[in-house]
Amino acid sequence: MFKKIVGGLVALGILVLAIFLIIAWESSIDPITPPNPDAFSEEQIKRGEVLAGLGNCETCHTTDPTKPLAGGRAMPTPFGTLYSTNITPDPNTGIGQWSEAAFTRAMREGVTRSGSHLFPAFPYTHFTKLSDDDISDLYAYMMSQPAIQAEPPENTLEFPFNIRLLLAGWKLLFFDEGRYETDTSKSVAWNRGAYIAEGAGHCSACHTPRNALGAEDAGKAWDGAIINNWYAPALNASNRTPAGWTETEAYEYLRNGGSPFHGVAVGSMADVVHDGLKQAPDSDLRALSVWLSDLAQASGEQQAGDSSASAIRDAQNTQNPSAMMDEGERLFTYACAACHYNEPDSPNALRPDMALNSAISAPTPVNLIRVTLNGVSLKEGMPEAMMPGFSQALNDRQIASLLAYLRSTHTDQPAWANLEQQVRDQRP
Ligand code: HEC
Ligand code: HEC
Ligand code: HEC
Repeated sequence: MFKKIVGGLVALGILVLAIFLIIAWESSIDPITPPNPDAFSEEQIKRGEVLAGLGNCETCHTTDPTKPLAGGRAMPTPFGTLYSTNITPDPNTGIGQWSEAAFTRAMREGVTRSGSHLFPAFPYTHFTKLSDDDISDLYAYMMSQPAIQAEPPENTLEFPFNIRLLLAGWKLLFFDEGRYETDTSKSVAWNRGAYIAEGAGHCSACHTPRNALGAEDAGKAWDGAIINNWYAPALNASNRTPAGWTETEAYEYLRNGGSPFHGVAVGSMADVVHDGLKQAPDSDLRALSVWLSDLAQASGEQQAGDSSASAIRDAQNTQNPSAMMDEGERLFTYACAACHYNEPDSPNALRPDMALNSAISAPTPVNLIRVTLNGVSLKEGMPEAMMPGFSQALNDRQIASLLAYLRSTHTDQPAWANLEQQVRDQRP
């Protein structure tokens, strides 16, 4: 009896394994000689370049700026470090031997030319939504870039996360292959925006929290998440800033890196704006803004202006310039206010108002701490503007009291916990 049960279980186990292997197994696609870049038209390569920008391919696939797309960038995950690959057309270390069919399979299904499964740190869960024409244009662009010989470092993922075959199981649970589906109840511009955001732009890869297995949590879509030690704020109605993300604000922010009622793009969002969206035509950024202001349920330009003005006024009124200013208020007045003061009715994007900024109203202080310590470089935020860092000028306690002061006077959100320790943790 017992033997029979064990025998049955073993047989069942073998059957399950066999079914899994059939699902998990992917064939190798024959290598090709790298295509001659002349095979592609200049317009096609140009369109591919815009898409590569929207997809931030270069940001993730470059470590040394003189070797664009040659890979090797470390991607820390909770399970170890993964390195991006060389996607230049080098035949030995890059994707030079990949036919368009192999490239398309990688983008749509997350499978390499030789048939291994790719980790979803490569956002194929989004790229799968791209149209055939767009993938074709991207291939043309990639294959016409300079071939660079470079091997990425070995991944250091822990067992069992280093077994690529198991990714087939992950895909069964969390991956839907498929194109973008037009929502006929929405406008053409909205659909274009959603196509970019969900597809090439993979916006939710940073703005949606992930579950324990690293998949985006659909139940918390657009609720905001920590990514690479930056907080990517909620983009839905739960965004806590006083003025909504109207079309005008969204467009200003995405086109120029900053908007009057919100502030500027720092950290990984600076890469998205300045490396990624830079080449995209205005019509695409307008479309993204239509989609974004709908997602954020923004209630119009007039309302945004009114909310912003009253938030600035309230914050100015809570500052009680007595002779007995507490440490946080005193530090803000002397170290920050000269550059961050605004007239309530006409805030300026170049002097982000603390009463309007997500960094102050976010559930985590990480962005505010990092900006205060390190400033804002020329490559971030608005072009040609920068902010000095205060890591040398202020100690942990001073920064903590300054930020606690901003939080309590410039928002209606609860105080952040362990602020001083959090400042210490962010020091280089
Ligand atoms: C968020 C970071 C990120 C972005 C953005 C990104 N990639 Fe990747 N990509 C990776 C990582 C990491 C890998 C390696 C995954 C693995 O080893 O399983 C990878 C792998 C690939 C591969 C497989 C290459 C091989 O040799 O196996 C291709 C092709 C690829 N990416 C193309 C692109 C293109 C095209 C874009 C832009 C449209 C892009 N990637 C954007 C992180 C990224
Ligand atoms: C690589 C990660 C990443 C990707 C991809 C990304 N974002 Fe962001 N985003 C961030 C981070 C981090 C911030 C916070 C930056 C700051 O405070 O300046 C941010 C901030 C924003 C903000 C400002 C929110 C606020 O309340 O201040 C908007 C709007 C935004 N992103 C839109 C987008 C859109 C649209 C896309 C896709 C085209 C996108 N993001 C893709 C990381 C990302
Ligand atoms: C010399 C002028 C100057 C001083 C002093 C200054 N800032 Fe800034 N700050 C700026 C500018 C300019 C920007 C926008 C930079 C850009 O667009 O590149 C900025 C941006 C910011 C942002 C916006 C980040 C975002 O995600 O939108 C925050 C928060 C901030 N500063 C906080 C502070 C704090 C706190 C202090 C005092 C400790 C301070 N600043 C002192 C000029 C200054």
